Amino acid sequence: MTEEKIYKVQICTGTLCHVMGGAELPALEDHLPEEIKSKVKVKGMVCANYCTETNLKPPFVLINGELMSEASIDKIIHYIQNCEKNDTFK
Ligand code: FES
Repeated sequence: MTEEKIYKVQICTGTLCHVMGGAELPALEDHLPEEIKSKVKVKGMVCANYCTETNLKPPFVLINGELMSEASIDKIIHYIQNCEKNDTFK
């Protein structure tokens, strides 16, 4: 694989996600461990109706298009570290 791996993290900025814990998620960038810091791009996204169209719980983030519910900074970091460890980057 020659392409550089970039984890694109999209944080829902919709009201429900925001009040359900999403407000802390933009701080993710400050918490990224050194070894994955350069591989993660954090962006916001508007509510994509996961909050109303699924039974999953907010806050929601997408990591390279994979939906994560009940997202937290720790959960996102663990997910990315796991992808790195198991080489399951998508
Ligand atoms: S507010 Fe986040 S998916 Fe709706």
